Amino acid sequence: MSNLTGKTALVTGASRGIGRAIAQRLASDGARVAIHYGSNESAARETIEAIQAAGGAAFPVRADLAVASGVDTLFDTLTAHLDGAPLDILVNNAAIMTYEATLDEATPEQFERLFAINARAPFFILQRALPVLPDGGRVVNISSGVTWFAIPQTVYAMTKGALNAMTRSAANTLGARGITVNTVSPGITDTEMNAWLHETDEASSGIAAITALDRVGRSPDIADVVAFLASDDARWVTGQTLEVNGGLYLGPRT
Ligand SMILES: NC(=O)c1ccc[n+]([C@@H]2O[C@H](COP(=O)([O-])OP(=O)(O)OC[C@H]3O[C@@H](n4cnc5c(N)ncnc54)[C@H](OP(=O)(O)O)[C@@H]3O)[C@@H](O)[C@H]2O)c1
Repeated sequence: MSNLTGKTALVTGASRGIGRAIAQRLASDGARVAIHYGSNESAARETIEAIQAAGGAAFPVRADLAVASGVDTLFDTLTAHLDGAPLDILVNNAAIMTYEATLDEATPEQFERLFAINARAPFFILQRALPVLPDGGRVVNISSGVTWFAIPQTVYAMTKGALNAMTRSAANTLGARGITVNTVSPGITDTEMNAWLHETDEASSGIAAITALDRVGRSPDIADVVAFLASDDARWVTGQTLEVNGGLYLGPRT
């Protein structure tokens, strides 16, 4: 498939995990992909090398999104690479999970950092992208199922609720330009964010037991759905949240 040939995409947090898989999939569909990362330069390089080895095109964009100036840093590099071309696809994927930031333990510093990376950055990245997003452009925000099932990490869940609200509002605002804005909401997916999946024998099987399709999610499971939303096939889908979780918590399985 090469339905994105000639297009440029930005994937934030593309050095690892789900973001890397999204970047690889968009590149295999023909897009030139900006591989954003925060600090893990070697991981970002691995993503780029994998894309180039498969015949795709990608370039690195380093920016720490915990600081307000990170969005300026990101666009300084991105704009130079765009060189007047549009940014056709924006995927707001970068985020952190802070396991200690529970209702009773979260500190104001943890709260600020979670909101800075997970909610403030996607908002201002989208705002800064508006002039370079063409009519018919695509925005996909990576949220989480924790907006509808409860976890102890209240602050992380709150940041993702904010992102879902941003999707609907932005979709309505940008519809007149034919720009679609959607949320992809992964379930429990095997990445470094979920290192606990590999800490005990029961962790993965426990997740499989509450998942209709009977396994933990994999990054390409998410990436393939993002690619659909980035494609022309999804031109009539906007303002939606797509749960991509293998049927997590559908109900008792026996
Ligand atoms: N994994 C899951 O089960 C799951 C479930 C639901 C939703 N999600 C969501 O899916 C998305 C991807 O998650 P993941 O599991 O793939 O995460 P991950 O493996 O931990 O990767 C996180 C990415 O975000 C970047 N990042 C972290 N802090 C940053 C900062 N301060 N500034 C800039 N970039 C920063 C990282 O860059 P560096 O490599 O440079 O650190 C990395 O590329 C996130 O939005 C997450 O909330 C994940």
